[in-house]
Parts: sequence; structure tokens; C-alpha cells
Amino acid sequence: MKLSRRRFMQGLSATASSSVLPLSVFAQNQTQNKLRVPALYAGEIQAGSHHYSLQLQVGTSQFLGGLTTPTLGINGSFLGPTLRLKNGSDVAISVLNQLNEPSTIHWHGLHVPAKVDGGPALIIEPGATWEPAFTVRQKAGTFWYHSHLLNKTGEQVYKGLAGMIIIDDEESENLEIPSTYGVDDIPLIVQDRRFNEDGSFRYVGMHRDVMTGVFGDRILVNGTTSALFTPSTNKVRFRILNAANARTFNFALADGREFSLIASDGGFLEKPVRLRNIVIAPAERAEIVVDFSDGNPVDLISLPLDASSPFSPTGMMRNMLSMNTESFTILNIEPESMLQRSAALPDQLTSIRRMQAGEATRIRRFELSMPMGMGRGGGRGRGGMGGEFLINGKPMAMDEINEVVPIGSTEIWEIHNDSMMMHPFHIHHGQFQILDRDGVPPSAEEMGFKDTVKVGPGQTVRFIMRFENFSDPDTAYMYHCHILEHEDNGMMGQFTVL
Ligand code: C2O
Ligand code: CU
Ligand code: CU
Repeated sequence: MKLSRRRFMQGLSATASSSVLPLSVFAQNQTQNKLRVPALYAGEIQAGSHHYSLQLQVGTSQFLGGLTTPTLGINGSFLGPTLRLKNGSDVAISVLNQLNEPSTIHWHGLHVPAKVDGGPALIIEPGATWEPAFTVRQKAGTFWYHSHLLNKTGEQVYKGLAGMIIIDDEESENLEIPSTYGVDDIPLIVQDRRFNEDGSFRYVGMHRDVMTGVFGDRILVNGTTSALFTPSTNKVRFRILNAANARTFNFALADGREFSLIASDGGFLEKPVRLRNIVIAPAERAEIVVDFSDGNPVDLISLPLDASSPFSPTGMMRNMLSMNTESFTILNIEPESMLQRSAALPDQLTSIRRMQAGEATRIRRFELSMPMGMGRGGGRGRGGMGGEFLINGKPMAMDEINEVVPIGSTEIWEIHNDSMMMHPFHIHHGQFQILDRDGVPPSAEEMGFKDTVKVGPGQTVRFIMRFENFSDPDTAYMYHCHILEHEDNGMMGQFTVL
């Protein structure tokens, strides 16, 4: 386990350019820090609805020894509280923007009206308060909220404007699975960051940062570096959220032990799926249950994404995501000596009706492309840094609605990736089911509801989705690549439901 950390840092020394932190700082920062767990926020009941009050604020954080990092946070200096919601309940949120720049807050994965979805049109000016209200209408699962400001999502999320959302429902409350937040039900908001010598985050610096998305050389889990978690029960459920701007992780336990995947983006899988590793792209979530009954320390690590993975970059981009060729530690885990007994996982978690391709009334096709270094310069100041990022040949334009979807319809969206790297394609408004990837139905781990899907280089992924509720001709939902530098540079489109 220590070895993997050392190897990660050796990898760094080989690739780090002179302007990033020298290796010695990493060496000084080897002490483990107790994993922070974001505060759980269940809201205050006001007039029959659950009221949440959020403040976007400027702050500082200490990630690296004595150095101070300017950060952004929600009700704190970095990241935000975990919002706990219940299916069927009415929710009213007030979001006060105390930053000195505009922002927006989007509820990723939530099925809510476009007007309260928090997309790039729903700007909260500095000093202003935005007050979305909605009814929770979906099954239990792990979701998140984050800035979605046009062209600035990457920068604001990088600095800290993100948090987790947990939705419960009657089904989840009746399942015998680990569910005590902070004890055996643990949020893991996983991010990578890189720093300047003065401790500040080092965001986009060069062409390549836009092309591949920004990769960091330090791992933060819930804002904790070199995080250590100490299980007190023999089973622990980790709610993994990949909140990195660009990095895809290949999660595994360092000793190769199996774990059970119980939920994906949109909630529970029908049955737990036994796995030894799981690839999670930016914005995807996975709930896994790990057994620590043997009492042995075992780190949660990220394995390399080797060249044989369908999600690895190809062609001239193959060498550009070099950081994903290393194993490195995400979370140090050292179980307590006496562990409380957990119940065996149930065989059945929920039931999911698989939608059939024949139910769809329409197929829409989307082509993701990134003509690189062509000097086309793109409109609106884009393109200069890393080429253009296009969907169906166009960059995102605020004044253009790209698709109009009839309310109540079922559609197949066919996403083709015409570039040399994987793009995690995300759609607002609801959850979909993956039909196939290059004609092959997904394996069990991708059989649940999803809102973000990995589309490897050259691949075609088809998903099916019902566009229920919330007709609105004026406010659009987004679909986009969730590598935030791609989204910010044009790989996004808009649709309305009417
Ligand atoms: Cu996670 Cu359009 O968002
Ligand atoms: Cu979203
Ligand atoms: Cu992308």
C-alpha cells in the first residue's frame, strides 16, 4: 500500500514540470489525515417543506502542510454539506451567492423542472439569492450539486463548488444495508488537484489542460489529502462520487478483494454485483459495500487504465493521459480491532423494468468531436487553447436550443465518439438505461439507471430515456461531456421538453 503511494509520486517526478510543487513537498506531506465527512444536512421543516439554506462563499483551506489554498465552498470553505432528501417530499432551497463572481448551482441527476435545474441560464449574481423549490420524484440514490456557470464550471468546481446529495425512499429505508451516515455509510467525493508553490490550486495552464481536461497529482477525498478511514463495522458502504474535472478512476482494493456494487448513478441495481474493480468517469457515482471482517488494513486504490481498456485514449492522445498509467492510493483504510457485525447484504435490492428499444418513438444521434489544434479558433473566445469541442459539429451556444423533445415520449439517444479519448456524456432531466455499446448490451454493473455514460474513443453508445413531466418552452436542459474543460469549451448542447 505504501508502495503504491511511492510509485505514484515517482510517476509525478517524471512528469511534473518545473512550475509545479517540487517532490520534496510531497515527501513532507506523508502523514495521514483522518477522512473528513461532510456535514449531513436534512433541512429545516418550514410550512410543510424541507428548507435548505446554502451560501456560496470564499474561503481558504489547508491541504498541504502549512500552505494555504484559496478555495470556494458552500456553507464552508471547500465543498458543501451532504443534502439528504426524501422521495415525495417538497424541497425549498435558498442559495445565497457571497462570491464576488456569478455562479449557478445544478442538482446533478435530479428529475426537476428546467427552471430550478440550475443550468447555465440560471445565474445567481453576487449578493443575490436563488430560491428553487421542487418535489423529489425519484428513487433513492447518490447524486450531487455543483456550479454550472457557462465557460466557468471547471474553474468553480475545481475551487470547491460541489457537494453530495443523498435521496432516501421507503425502499432504501427498509433494506438491511449499511446506512448510518459517517459510520458505515460513507461519502467519498474523489477529486484530483495540483498546486502552485504558494499552495494555491493550479488550474488551466496550457493547451493540453484543455485538451485532456485538467489532471492533478494529489488526491483529495472529501477535501482530505492522504485520507485515512477507520471502519468500525465489518461492512462499509462507500458512496463514491467522481467529482474530478477530468480524471477517470479505476477503483479497486489494494489486495484485490471483491466488493459488492449496489447502486449506480440513478439508484440501486436489482442485485448486488460482485466486482474487483470499477471504472468511474467524472460525474458518475457508484455505491459499493466492502467487507473488512478480516480486520486487515487495505487501501482503496486506483488501478491503471491500460491500453486495452475501451476507455483509454487512442492514437496521438495515447501518451497524454499518462497519469492514468499509475496505481495510486485514494483512501487509506485501517479497520478498528473490534468490528461491529453487519447484516449480510440482501439478494434483491430493488426491481428495475428494463425499457425495450421498441418503446422508443425516435432516435436522436449525437457526434462528439474535438478537432485538435486546427487553429479554427471557435467563436466566443473558445478554441484557442485546445482546439474545438463539438456536438454534431457545433459548440454550445446560449441562444440556440438544439433539440426539442416531446413531453412523455421515450427516445433513444445514440452517442458516437469521433475523437481519440473517452467522453462521459451526461444529460439533465432524468435517468436513462444503457441499451448497448457498439451493439453489445452492458454488463450487470451498467444495468441500473444512469445519467452519465462513458463513451470510449470510436464507440457508439445507445441509451433509452423517458422524458416525463415539466414542459417548459423557455428554459432548457443541458447535455454535455462531463470533463469540465470540454464542457466549458463547447461540448454541450441544450434541449427543451414540451
Ligand atoms: Cu453535473 Cu450538467 O452537470
Ligand atoms: Cu447534471
Ligand atoms: Cu469530453
